[in-house]
Amino acid sequence: MNDTFLRACRGEDVEYTPIWIMRQAGRYLPDYQEVRRKVDFLTLCKTPELAAEVTIQPVDILGVDAAILFSDILIPLESMGMKLRFLEKKGPVLSRPVRKMKDVEALRTIKPKKDVPFVLDTIKILRRKLRKKVPLIGFAGAPFTLATYMIEGGSSKNFLHTKTMMFSAPEVFHSLMERITETTMEYLSAQIRAGAQAVQIFDSWAGALAPDDYREHSLPYVKKTIEALKPLGVPIIYFVNNCGGLLELARTAGADVIGIDWRVDIGKAITKLGKGVSVQGNLDPLALFADERVLESKVKEILKKGSRARGHIFNLGHGIIPQTSPDMAKKLVQMVHELSG
Ligand code: CP3
Repeated sequence: MNDTFLRACRGEDVEYTPIWIMRQAGRYLPDYQEVRRKVDFLTLCKTPELAAEVTIQPVDILGVDAAILFSDILIPLESMGMKLRFLEKKGPVLSRPVRKMKDVEALRTIKPKKDVPFVLDTIKILRRKLRKKVPLIGFAGAPFTLATYMIEGGSSKNFLHTKTMMFSAPEVFHSLMERITETTMEYLSAQIRAGAQAVQIFDSWAGALAPDDYREHSLPYVKKTIEALKPLGVPIIYFVNNCGGLLELARTAGADVIGIDWRVDIGKAITKLGKGVSVQGNLDPLALFADERVLESKVKEILKKGSRARGHIFNLGHGIIPQTSPDMAKKLVQMVHELSG
Protein backbone atom coordinates (compact mmCIF):
# COMPACT_ATOMS: atom_id res chain seq x y z
CA MET A 1 0.00 0.00 0.00
CA ASN A 2 1.04 3.60 -0.63
CA ASP A 3 1.50 4.90 2.92
CA THR A 4 3.40 8.13 2.11
CA PHE A 5 0.51 10.16 3.52
CA LEU A 6 0.57 8.39 6.91
CA ARG A 7 4.36 8.67 7.11
CA ALA A 8 4.30 12.41 6.35
CA CYS A 9 1.66 12.84 9.08
CA ARG A 10 4.06 11.25 11.57
CA GLY A 11 7.09 13.15 10.27
CA GLU A 12 8.80 10.04 8.87
CA ASP A 13 10.83 9.88 5.64
CA VAL A 14 8.95 9.81 2.32
CA GLU A 15 10.10 9.29 -1.30
CA TYR A 16 7.95 12.20 -2.47
CA THR A 17 5.48 14.66 -0.95
CA PRO A 18 2.03 13.06 -0.67
CA ILE A 19 -1.02 15.01 -1.84
CA TRP A 20 -4.76 14.80 -1.39
CA ILE A 21 -7.29 17.52 -2.15
CA MET A 22 -9.96 18.86 0.18
CA ARG A 23 -13.38 18.11 -1.37
CA GLN A 24 -11.65 15.82 -3.87
CA ALA A 25 -14.87 13.86 -4.35
CA GLY A 26 -17.39 16.30 -5.71
CA ARG A 27 -19.15 18.20 -8.41
CA TYR A 28 -16.06 19.09 -10.49
CA LEU A 29 -15.82 15.37 -11.39
CA PRO A 30 -18.22 14.22 -14.16
CA ASP A 31 -18.09 10.74 -12.58
CA TYR A 32 -19.46 12.19 -9.33
CA GLN A 33 -22.17 14.11 -11.18
CA GLU A 34 -23.27 10.91 -12.87
CA VAL A 35 -23.85 9.19 -9.51
CA ARG A 36 -25.41 12.34 -8.07
CA ARG A 37 -27.96 12.58 -10.89
CA LYS A 38 -29.61 9.45 -9.55
CA VAL A 39 -29.77 10.39 -5.83
CA ASP A 40 -29.81 13.54 -3.72
CA PHE A 41 -26.77 14.47 -1.66
CA LEU A 42 -27.99 13.14 1.70
CA THR A 43 -29.09 9.84 0.15
CA LEU A 44 -25.65 9.56 -1.40
CA CYS A 45 -24.05 10.08 2.04
CA LYS A 46 -26.35 7.43 3.54
CA THR A 47 -25.91 4.72 0.90
CA PRO A 48 -22.62 2.97 1.72
CA GLU A 49 -22.03 1.39 -1.71
CA LEU A 50 -22.49 4.73 -3.46
CA ALA A 51 -20.59 6.76 -0.87
CA ALA A 52 -17.70 4.30 -1.18
CA GLU A 53 -17.82 4.54 -4.97
CA VAL A 54 -17.49 8.34 -5.04
CA THR A 55 -14.81 8.23 -2.33
CA ILE A 56 -12.63 6.09 -4.60
CA GLN A 57 -13.22 8.13 -7.77
CA PRO A 58 -10.51 10.75 -7.09
CA VAL A 59 -8.05 8.04 -6.02
CA ASP A 60 -8.40 6.35 -9.41
CA ILE A 61 -8.84 9.47 -11.54
CA LEU A 62 -6.30 11.84 -9.97
CA GLY A 63 -3.84 9.48 -8.29
CA VAL A 64 -4.00 11.18 -4.87
CA ASP A 65 -2.20 9.57 -1.93
CA ALA A 66 -5.18 9.40 0.45
CA ALA A 67 -8.94 8.89 0.22
CA ILE A 68 -11.35 10.90 2.38
CA LEU A 69 -14.65 9.36 3.44
CA PHE A 70 -17.54 10.76 1.43
CA SER A 71 -19.94 12.35 3.90
CA ASP A 72 -20.54 15.80 5.36
CA ILE A 73 -19.62 17.53 8.61
CA LEU A 74 -23.32 18.25 9.21
CA ILE A 75 -24.45 14.58 9.22
CA PRO A 76 -24.02 14.07 13.01
CA LEU A 77 -26.25 17.07 13.71
CA GLU A 78 -29.22 14.99 12.59
CA SER A 79 -28.36 12.46 15.30
CA MET A 80 -28.30 15.30 17.82
CA GLY A 81 -31.93 16.01 16.92
CA MET A 82 -31.73 18.69 14.24
CA LYS A 83 -33.50 18.58 10.89
CA LEU A 84 -31.00 18.91 8.02
CA ARG A 85 -31.71 19.61 4.37
CA PHE A 86 -29.48 20.60 1.46
CA LEU A 87 -31.12 23.03 -0.95
CA GLU A 88 -29.82 23.19 -4.51
CA LYS A 89 -28.88 26.88 -4.60
CA LYS A 90 -28.76 27.70 -0.91
CA GLY A 91 -26.68 24.91 0.61
CA PRO A 92 -27.38 23.42 4.04
CA VAL A 93 -30.46 24.41 6.07
CA LEU A 94 -31.04 23.40 9.68
CA SER A 95 -34.59 24.14 10.74
CA ARG A 96 -35.25 25.34 14.29
CA PRO A 97 -31.76 26.70 15.02
CA VAL A 98 -30.30 26.54 18.53
CA ARG A 99 -30.75 29.90 20.27
CA LYS A 100 -31.78 29.27 23.92
CA MET A 101 -30.74 26.99 26.78
CA LYS A 102 -33.87 24.89 26.25
CA ASP A 103 -32.74 24.25 22.64
CA VAL A 104 -29.35 23.08 23.92
CA GLU A 105 -30.96 20.86 26.52
CA ALA A 106 -33.09 19.17 23.86
CA LEU A 107 -29.97 17.95 21.99
CA ARG A 108 -28.85 14.32 22.21
CA THR A 109 -25.38 12.77 22.05
CA ILE A 110 -24.76 10.59 19.02
CA LYS A 111 -24.72 6.79 19.32
CA PRO A 112 -22.76 6.04 16.16
CA LYS A 113 -23.68 2.37 15.69
CA LYS A 114 -27.38 3.15 16.01
CA ASP A 115 -27.53 6.67 14.53
CA VAL A 116 -24.99 6.59 11.68
CA PRO A 117 -24.45 2.92 10.77
CA PHE A 118 -24.11 4.00 7.14
CA VAL A 119 -20.92 5.97 7.93
CA LEU A 120 -19.33 2.99 9.68
CA ASP A 121 -20.46 0.63 6.89
CA THR A 122 -18.99 2.96 4.24
CA ILE A 123 -15.66 2.93 6.09
CA LYS A 124 -15.66 -0.87 6.26
CA ILE A 125 -16.37 -1.20 2.53
CA LEU A 126 -13.66 1.36 1.78
CA ARG A 127 -10.98 -0.35 3.83
CA ARG A 128 -11.59 -3.50 1.81
CA LYS A 129 -11.58 -1.71 -1.54
CA LEU A 130 -8.59 0.50 -0.74
CA ARG A 131 -6.46 -2.28 0.70
CA LYS A 132 -3.77 -2.17 -1.98
CA LYS A 133 -4.19 1.53 -2.71
CA VAL A 134 -4.13 4.38 -0.19
CA PRO A 135 -5.11 5.15 3.43
CA LEU A 136 -8.59 6.33 4.36
CA ILE A 137 -9.18 9.62 6.20
CA GLY A 138 -12.27 10.03 8.38
CA PHE A 139 -13.45 13.48 9.45
CA ALA A 140 -15.71 15.70 11.50
CA GLY A 141 -16.38 19.40 11.88
CA ALA A 142 -14.67 21.17 14.78
CA PRO A 143 -17.15 22.02 17.55
CA PHE A 144 -17.07 25.77 16.81
CA THR A 145 -17.64 25.28 13.08
CA LEU A 146 -20.57 22.95 13.78
CA ALA A 147 -21.97 25.41 16.34
CA THR A 148 -22.14 28.14 13.67
CA TYR A 149 -24.41 25.95 11.50
CA MET A 150 -26.56 24.95 14.48
CA ILE A 151 -27.00 28.51 15.72
CA GLU A 152 -27.33 30.27 12.36
CA GLY A 153 -29.49 27.52 10.83
CA GLY A 154 -27.16 27.28 7.84
CA SER A 155 -24.20 29.07 6.28
CA SER A 156 -23.47 32.60 7.41
CA LYS A 157 -21.49 35.69 6.43
CA ASN A 158 -20.88 37.44 9.74
CA PHE A 159 -22.06 34.87 12.32
CA LEU A 160 -24.50 37.32 13.88
CA HIS A 161 -26.41 34.83 16.05
CA THR A 162 -23.34 32.78 16.94
CA LYS A 163 -21.36 35.74 18.20
CA THR A 164 -24.39 37.27 19.90
CA MET A 165 -24.78 34.06 21.90
CA MET A 166 -21.03 33.80 22.52
CA PHE A 167 -20.77 37.35 23.85
CA SER A 168 -24.11 37.81 25.60
CA ALA A 169 -25.05 34.30 26.76
CA PRO A 170 -21.70 32.53 27.19
CA GLU A 171 -23.17 29.88 29.50
CA VAL A 172 -25.59 28.82 26.75
CA PHE A 173 -22.81 28.85 24.18
CA HIS A 174 -20.45 26.79 26.35
CA SER A 175 -23.06 24.17 27.16
CA LEU A 176 -23.80 23.86 23.45
CA MET A 177 -20.07 23.44 22.77
CA GLU A 178 -19.86 20.74 25.48
CA ARG A 179 -22.65 18.77 23.82
CA ILE A 180 -21.17 19.08 20.34
CA THR A 181 -17.77 18.00 21.69
CA GLU A 182 -19.28 14.86 23.26
CA THR A 183 -20.85 13.95 19.92
CA THR A 184 -17.68 14.73 17.96
CA MET A 185 -15.56 12.53 20.24
CA GLU A 186 -18.00 9.63 19.94
CA TYR A 187 -18.34 10.11 16.20
CA LEU A 188 -14.61 10.23 15.42
CA SER A 189 -13.76 7.36 17.81
CA ALA A 190 -16.36 5.24 16.02
CA GLN A 191 -14.90 6.14 12.61
CA ILE A 192 -11.42 5.14 13.80
CA ARG A 193 -12.68 1.88 15.30
CA ALA A 194 -14.46 1.12 12.00
CA GLY A 195 -11.15 1.56 10.14
CA ALA A 196 -10.35 5.23 9.44
CA GLN A 197 -6.54 5.45 9.38
CA ALA A 198 -6.34 9.18 10.09
CA VAL A 199 -8.94 11.83 10.91
CA GLN A 200 -9.27 15.47 9.96
CA ILE A 201 -11.10 18.01 12.10
CA PHE A 202 -12.42 20.83 9.91
CA ASP A 203 -12.43 24.21 11.68
CA SER A 204 -13.66 26.00 8.57
CA TRP A 205 -14.89 29.10 10.40
CA ALA A 206 -12.34 29.42 13.25
CA GLY A 207 -10.76 32.30 11.34
CA ALA A 208 -13.88 34.39 11.95
CA LEU A 209 -12.82 34.68 15.60
CA ALA A 210 -10.43 37.13 17.25
CA PRO A 211 -7.52 35.22 18.81
CA ASP A 212 -8.79 35.72 22.39
CA ASP A 213 -12.24 34.45 21.43
CA TYR A 214 -10.74 31.52 19.54
CA ARG A 215 -8.70 30.65 22.66
CA GLU A 216 -11.79 30.70 24.83
CA HIS A 217 -14.57 29.52 22.53
CA SER A 218 -13.10 27.04 20.05
CA LEU A 219 -9.66 25.77 21.07
CA PRO A 220 -10.53 24.06 24.42
CA TYR A 221 -13.12 21.89 22.70
CA VAL A 222 -10.77 20.88 19.89
CA LYS A 223 -8.13 20.05 22.51
CA LYS A 224 -10.59 17.91 24.43
CA THR A 225 -11.60 16.08 21.26
CA ILE A 226 -7.99 15.40 20.29
CA GLU A 227 -7.08 14.22 23.81
CA ALA A 228 -9.90 11.68 23.66
CA LEU A 229 -8.73 10.39 20.27
CA LYS A 230 -4.97 10.23 20.92
CA PRO A 231 -5.05 6.79 22.61
CA LEU A 232 -6.57 5.34 19.43
CA GLY A 233 -3.22 5.94 17.75
CA VAL A 234 -4.11 7.37 14.33
CA PRO A 235 -2.78 10.72 13.03
CA ILE A 236 -5.05 13.66 13.72
CA ILE A 237 -5.14 16.59 11.29
CA TYR A 238 -6.53 19.90 12.47
CA PHE A 239 -7.49 22.15 9.53
CA VAL A 240 -7.89 25.80 10.49
CA ASN A 241 -9.26 27.98 7.72
CA ASN A 242 -8.08 31.60 7.81
CA CYS A 243 -5.45 30.46 10.30
CA GLY A 244 -3.11 33.48 10.00
CA GLY A 245 -3.73 35.02 13.39
CA LEU A 246 -4.33 31.71 15.15
CA LEU A 247 -1.37 29.48 14.28
CA GLU A 248 0.49 29.49 17.60
CA LEU A 249 -2.76 28.83 19.44
CA ALA A 250 -3.91 26.14 16.99
CA ARG A 251 -0.64 24.27 17.49
CA THR A 252 -1.49 23.78 21.17
CA ALA A 253 -4.57 21.73 20.24
CA GLY A 254 -2.25 18.71 20.11
CA ALA A 255 -2.85 17.52 16.53
CA ASP A 256 -0.18 15.62 14.58
CA VAL A 257 -0.76 17.80 11.52
CA ILE A 258 -1.96 21.39 11.15
CA GLY A 259 -3.82 22.14 7.90
CA ILE A 260 -3.43 25.73 6.74
CA ASP A 261 -5.20 27.93 4.18
CA TRP A 262 -3.44 29.78 1.34
CA ARG A 263 -3.59 33.25 2.90
CA VAL A 264 -0.44 32.53 4.90
CA ASP A 265 3.10 31.93 3.68
CA ILE A 266 3.73 28.25 4.39
CA GLY A 267 7.39 28.91 5.25
CA LYS A 268 6.43 31.46 7.89
CA ALA A 269 3.69 29.16 9.17
CA ILE A 270 6.24 26.35 9.61
CA THR A 271 8.52 28.68 11.57
CA LYS A 272 5.63 29.55 13.88
CA LEU A 273 4.48 25.94 14.27
CA GLY A 274 7.93 24.51 14.98
CA LYS A 275 9.29 20.99 14.55
CA GLY A 276 6.68 19.18 16.63
CA VAL A 277 3.97 18.96 13.97
CA SER A 278 3.58 18.19 10.28
CA VAL A 279 1.93 20.72 7.98
CA GLN A 280 -0.76 20.30 5.32
CA GLY A 281 -1.49 22.76 2.54
CA ASN A 282 -1.68 25.27 1.08
CA LEU A 283 -2.22 26.10 -2.60
CA ASP A 284 -4.93 28.65 -3.43
CA PRO A 285 -7.74 26.53 -4.97
CA LEU A 286 -8.03 29.17 -7.70
CA ALA A 287 -4.42 28.52 -8.78
CA LEU A 288 -5.95 25.59 -10.69
CA PHE A 289 -7.33 28.22 -13.07
CA ALA A 290 -3.86 29.57 -13.92
CA ASP A 291 -1.85 28.27 -16.86
CA GLU A 292 0.42 25.33 -16.18
CA ARG A 293 3.63 27.36 -15.90
CA VAL A 294 2.16 29.66 -13.27
CA LEU A 295 0.74 26.68 -11.40
CA GLU A 296 4.11 24.95 -11.51
CA SER A 297 5.96 27.91 -10.03
CA LYS A 298 3.47 28.10 -7.16
CA VAL A 299 3.72 24.37 -6.51
CA LYS A 300 7.54 24.55 -6.51
CA GLU A 301 7.52 27.37 -3.99
CA ILE A 302 5.18 25.51 -1.63
CA LEU A 303 7.20 22.29 -1.93
CA LYS A 304 10.47 24.13 -1.28
CA LYS A 305 9.13 25.87 1.81
CA GLY A 306 7.17 22.79 2.90
CA SER A 307 10.33 20.66 2.92
CA ARG A 308 11.42 22.50 6.08
CA ALA A 309 8.51 21.08 8.06
CA ARG A 310 8.73 17.86 10.09
CA GLY A 311 6.42 16.42 7.44
CA HIS A 312 4.51 18.06 4.58
CA ILE A 313 1.29 16.87 3.00
CA PHE A 314 0.42 18.88 -0.09
CA ASN A 315 -3.21 20.05 -0.32
CA LEU A 316 -5.22 23.06 -1.39
CA GLY A 317 -5.76 25.76 1.22
CA HIS A 318 -9.51 24.99 1.17
CA GLY A 319 -11.91 22.89 -0.91
CA ILE A 320 -11.56 22.52 -4.67
CA ILE A 321 -14.30 24.54 -6.36
CA PRO A 322 -16.94 22.95 -8.64
CA GLN A 323 -15.77 24.83 -11.79
CA THR A 324 -12.27 23.28 -11.64
CA SER A 325 -11.15 21.13 -14.57
CA PRO A 326 -10.43 17.54 -13.47
CA ASP A 327 -7.45 17.58 -15.86
CA MET A 328 -5.85 20.46 -13.96
CA ALA A 329 -6.40 18.64 -10.66
CA LYS A 330 -4.74 15.60 -12.17
CA LYS A 331 -1.82 17.72 -13.43
CA LEU A 332 -1.41 19.15 -9.93
CA VAL A 333 -1.07 15.67 -8.44
CA GLN A 334 1.51 14.68 -11.08
CA MET A 335 3.44 17.92 -10.58
CA VAL A 336 3.65 17.48 -6.81
CA HIS A 337 4.87 13.89 -7.21
CA GLU A 338 7.43 14.74 -9.90
CA LEU A 339 8.78 17.94 -8.41
CA SER A 340 9.21 16.47 -4.93
CA GLY A 341 10.39 12.98 -5.88
O1 CP3 B 1 -14.22 14.84 -0.87
C1 CP3 B 1 -14.33 15.23 0.29
O2 CP3 B 1 -13.68 16.17 0.78
C2 CP3 B 1 -15.23 14.46 1.24
C3 CP3 B 1 -16.55 14.93 1.37
C4 CP3 B 1 -16.89 16.25 2.08
C5 CP3 B 1 -18.05 16.99 1.74
N1 CP3 B 1 -18.19 18.01 2.64
C6 CP3 B 1 -18.95 16.66 0.63
C7 CP3 B 1 -19.91 17.67 0.13
C8 CP3 B 1 -16.29 16.89 3.16
C9 CP3 B 1 -14.99 16.57 3.88
C10 CP3 B 1 -17.13 18.00 3.50
C11 CP3 B 1 -16.85 18.91 4.63
C12 CP3 B 1 -17.71 20.08 4.83
N2 CP3 B 1 -19.06 20.22 4.63
C13 CP3 B 1 -17.24 21.30 5.39
C14 CP3 B 1 -15.83 21.55 5.87
C15 CP3 B 1 -14.91 21.83 4.75
C16 CP3 B 1 -15.05 23.18 4.14
O3 CP3 B 1 -15.38 23.23 2.94
O4 CP3 B 1 -14.84 24.17 4.84
C17 CP3 B 1 -18.32 22.18 5.45
C18 CP3 B 1 -18.28 23.62 5.94
C19 CP3 B 1 -19.48 21.49 4.97
C20 CP3 B 1 -20.87 22.00 4.89
C21 CP3 B 1 -21.41 21.99 3.53
N3 CP3 B 1 -21.68 20.85 2.79
C22 CP3 B 1 -21.81 23.10 2.76
C23 CP3 B 1 -21.70 24.53 3.19
C24 CP3 B 1 -22.30 22.60 1.55
C25 CP3 B 1 -22.94 23.39 0.43
C26 CP3 B 1 -21.93 24.11 -0.36
C27 CP3 B 1 -21.26 23.19 -1.33
O5 CP3 B 1 -20.03 23.17 -1.33
O6 CP3 B 1 -21.97 22.53 -2.06
C28 CP3 B 1 -22.16 21.19 1.56
C29 CP3 B 1 -22.53 20.25 0.48
C30 CP3 B 1 -21.51 19.25 0.04
N4 CP3 B 1 -20.67 18.56 0.87
C31 CP3 B 1 -21.29 18.80 -1.30
C32 CP3 B 1 -20.29 17.81 -1.23
C33 CP3 B 1 -19.75 16.98 -2.38
C34 CP3 B 1 -22.05 19.23 -2.53
C35 CP3 B 1 -23.33 18.49 -2.55
C36 CP3 B 1 -23.85 18.22 -3.93
O7 CP3 B 1 -23.49 17.21 -4.54
O8 CP3 B 1 -24.71 19.01 -4.36
